[in-house]
Amino acid sequence: MEQKIWKVAVIGCGMFANGQYLPNTPKETHAKLVAAVDIVFERAEAACRKYNIPNAYHDVYELIEKCDFDIAIDAASIQAHHEINMAVLGAGKHLISQKPAAPTVAQLSEQIALAEKKGVKFACAPIHPMRYDLNFAKQLMADGAIGRAYYAKCNMSHGGPEYFQYRDADPSWFYEPGAGALVDMGVHGLQIVTSLFGAAQSVACTAIVSTPERSVRSGCFDGKKIKTDMLPDQYLITLRFPDNRMALVDAGFSQKAAKAPQLEIFGDEGTLAFTKPYMTNPRPELYTDCPSRGFRGWVTPDEWIAPPKKLLSQCCILRDLVEAIEADTTPVLSAYHARHVLEIMCKIPEAIETGATVKLETTF
Ligand SMILES: NC(=O)c1ccc[n+]([C@@H]2O[C@H](COP(=O)([O-])OP(=O)(O)OC[C@H]3O[C@@H](n4cnc5c(N)ncnc54)[C@H](O)[C@@H]3O)[C@@H](O)[C@H]2O)c1
Repeated sequence: MEQKIWKVAVIGCGMFANGQYLPNTPKETHAKLVAAVDIVFERAEAACRKYNIPNAYHDVYELIEKCDFDIAIDAASIQAHHEINMAVLGAGKHLISQKPAAPTVAQLSEQIALAEKKGVKFACAPIHPMRYDLNFAKQLMADGAIGRAYYAKCNMSHGGPEYFQYRDADPSWFYEPGAGALVDMGVHGLQIVTSLFGAAQSVACTAIVSTPERSVRSGCFDGKKIKTDMLPDQYLITLRFPDNRMALVDAGFSQKAAKAPQLEIFGDEGTLAFTKPYMTNPRPELYTDCPSRGFRGWVTPDEWIAPPKKLLSQCCILRDLVEAIEADTTPVLSAYHARHVLEIMCKIPEAIETGATVKLETTF
């Protein structure tokens, strides 16, 4: 049988789409780009010219009306995701959403119900559950390499989108209600620790506004001053899990540089540490305390026992979605997991305000 080539439309042609989805779509799976969409139409046109895409559209509605496509990737700004996602799913198309897919749990549940009703697949970023280093660590944990794993500590901060990444689109929206450091950065840490320990039972949090005004440091808006005091930009989130386990997620836009490992997992017989950028496909480092062999110390795991698998790009989410469509399974990057992470983020303002631990209800 002839291999199907999936027709992909990218909605939102900003920094992330240009870095990941537009260049990597044909490399990750049997797919081709058929449309680029942006409310700043010149950005859609520029993407079409650069990546040889046949159709540019002004918005998701024009895309749905005029284009024959199978899969949409919503890479627009955070505040636009819910409307775009409902339109795509309502049109009966498969969907990849950048994070977070909706502002509230009820709205993400609405998207999930629509995807189920229309019989389409729905995958949600970020991509951490697809990381081979994280899955290797989960296997090591399951095999008892660090004994009983009880604490995960995750650092997920940078200096802010106006500082950390080169950008030609105006980054002001990152600091406006609906966006912010929690949903842009915290989401990564929360997805990672819940990938390791499963659904959390409760959340507590402290947060501050570290920097109430900022200057854009690159691209077309270089030098522009942005008011950045509407939402906290530095969060310390603590989560409690079943079986006496916990996690700390340090997330924000307030760390210009840091040397702390992105992730450490502690157990009663050792530690797993992730000290290198995850897109370099590193192996986790293992500390083992093994009294029966008279040994304790850091060890360097040898090459993977199976041939090493590597993530090529964050467009791996497209491969995940296509595999789920073809096998009629739930994507690894499931909307149910995204909903649990969203519930945590939605309850954090209450946890900050009251200083109390807030119970969580969703699972995945
Ligand atoms: N590592 C990661 O996972 C990662 C990193 C950066 C950004 N992101 C996510 O990617 C998404 C985009 O971020 P970015 O950094 O590329 O931002 P950006 O500002 O560079 O790009 C967003 C683009 O979306 C367009 N847009 C806004 N509303 C739209 C709408 N209704 N319809 C069509 N286009 C619309 C804007 O004009 C802009 O071109 C966000 O959800 C962000 O959280 C993820």
